[in-house]
Amino acid sequence: MVSKRAQLKKIGILTGGGDCPGLNAVIRAVVKTSINDYGAQAVGFEDGFLGLLSNRYVRLDYTSVSGILSQGGTVLGTSNKASPFDRAVDPSTPVKRTKKINRVFSHIAKHRIDVLFCIGGDGTMSIAEALSRLGVPIVGIPKTIDNDLSGTDFTFGFNSAVQVATEAIDRLHSTAMSHHRVMIVEVMGRYAGWLALYAGVAGGGDIILIPEIPYDLDLVCRRVTERNRRGKRFSIIVVAEGAKPRGGTQHIRRFVKGSPDPVRLGGISRIIANGIERKTGLEVRVTNLGHLQRGGSPTAYDRLLATRFGVEAVRMAVRREFGHMVALRGNDIIACPLAQAVAVLKLVQRSEPLISAAKAVGTSFGS
Ligand code: F6P
Repeated sequence: MVSKRAQLKKIGILTGGGDCPGLNAVIRAVVKTSINDYGAQAVGFEDGFLGLLSNRYVRLDYTSVSGILSQGGTVLGTSNKASPFDRAVDPSTPVKRTKKINRVFSHIAKHRIDVLFCIGGDGTMSIAEALSRLGVPIVGIPKTIDNDLSGTDFTFGFNSAVQVATEAIDRLHSTAMSHHRVMIVEVMGRYAGWLALYAGVAGGGDIILIPEIPYDLDLVCRRVTERNRRGKRFSIIVVAEGAKPRGGTQHIRRFVKGSPDPVRLGGISRIIANGIERKTGLEVRVTNLGHLQRGGSPTAYDRLLATRFGVEAVRMAVRREFGHMVALRGNDIIACPLAQAVAVLKLVQRSEPLISAAKAVGTSFGS
């Protein structure tokens, strides 16, 4: 029988893409499980694939990951600008070994790494999938506040972001009521409306606008004025940064040079606010939650999910289930092929039960 020590001698780990609460909880779970159960050593590459390409790393031991469970951000640093590939990759893109890719192989060989754990969202997982096709032994661990990764019911980070956005909506309610105003709160989520939908329903938003359901400004205004007529002299509108008008396009805030996905959305709520003021004469205020949604301590739910993901990812590595990502299905943690996880973005479907629940309690989607 192979001794546990021989099953896993050394692991590598990196965090890529935008940060989110729960990254440190995963790093801790992966490192502690590798040490406790297999006596393995660990190195962490700094700033995602940037560190892997330039061999910038830190040794991780029991002490270095103690006390980080509840900390936001990532002790390894991250970047959403670096990739070992010169252009965006997906499972249908043929990939070949270039000088840059050879650097990845050489650093992995130098450290004698048995497995590289890549923690990230769809950008990181797409790179991981392509590297894995070239023979890098990778296990993926999904994170993102956007919850837009296929193959898993939820990613960690999402629950924490929903919590922050919900608290913000609760706070906006009292000031909206006092001043009889329309309050718009813009939340992140990129091309998916999960964050706006969950926080909007949890915070009792009157109108929720998400990218998957293009809105009609006249219908939004009608809902606001109807509420006024019924004596509800305020309205809360929760807007996803990717929301777009019927027949229109998403509002791009900026292009980030060098990023595999350079588009950054944001700012649509200001346009909606101007439209409502013009059409109704009502007073509108805008709050853009921005990166507040990504900062700070993970919720208990995200700490638990991150810990389960981290522990199971190590078990997958021992079973040599490379090219897979840990995923949550129902209450089970399963192994999902990376190619399946990155094939399409997981968007909100019109049949989503939370949409019909929201409509049943009177929430409008502006369509
Ligand atoms: O993917 C996470 C996310 O926070 C998105 O919701 C948002 O659109 C984007 O990252 C913001 O990116 P950056 O931090 O580069 O501005």
